[in-house]
Amino acid sequence: MGLNNIFLFVAIFAVAYGVCPSGWSSYKTNCFFLSRENETMPDAQVMCGIIARSYGKTGRLAAVPDVGTDTFLFNLIDASQYDSYWIGANDLVEEGKFVWSGTTMKATYAKWGQDQPDNRGGTEHCTAMRGKDFPFIGFNASWTDNLCTDLNNYICEITEIAGAGIVG
Ligand SMILES: *[C@@H]1O[C@H](CO)[C@@H](O)[C@H](O)[C@H]1NC(C)=O
Ligand SMILES: *[C@@H]1O[C@H](CO)[C@@H](O)[C@H](O)[C@H]1NC(C)=O
Repeated sequence: MGLNNIFLFVAIFAVAYGVCPSGWSSYKTNCFFLSRENETMPDAQVMCGIIARSYGKTGRLAAVPDVGTDTFLFNLIDASQYDSYWIGANDLVEEGKFVWSGTTMKATYAKWGQDQPDNRGGTEHCTAMRGKDFPFIGFNASWTDNLCTDLNNYICEITEIAGAGIVG
């Protein structure tokens, strides 16, 4: 195959399947980014927006609507350097009614750990996803409600960028 044909092939492939920016992971039609920094949940949401805008996208903390997405993200966490990441689920508007930030979706699927969410102290309204190596047994490989002002790494989500792979 000549070079021009290879480029054509890559371009068609990228348009047909969509691509994620370098450093992001593709699942179905979305791209996910695991931060190296710790932020509060509100600051993590802002960061996801800022990062996404650099790709011309609207970004938000990851929504995890099903077990497939959950398993995909748990595997990314377990392969990463950190164990605890903000995802978008929060009950800031109405206690006990978790929704995905930046969307109108209710959190119907959830992988809460044992006795979670417990709204400890009446103040835990944000959600951290912990990998299997999270160092508190019973809190690993599951979700926990957390103080929104706690520091955690975070997972951002954008939709795929069709065609961007040509320059990659
Ligand atoms: C983020 O917090 C986790 C858990 O407290 C810690 O292990 C990690 O070193 C922190 N990362 C940064 C970049 O501060
Ligand atoms: C949670 O951590 C414990 C202790 O390290 C470990 O034995 C267990 O397998 C972990 N759970 C999962 C689901 O990985």
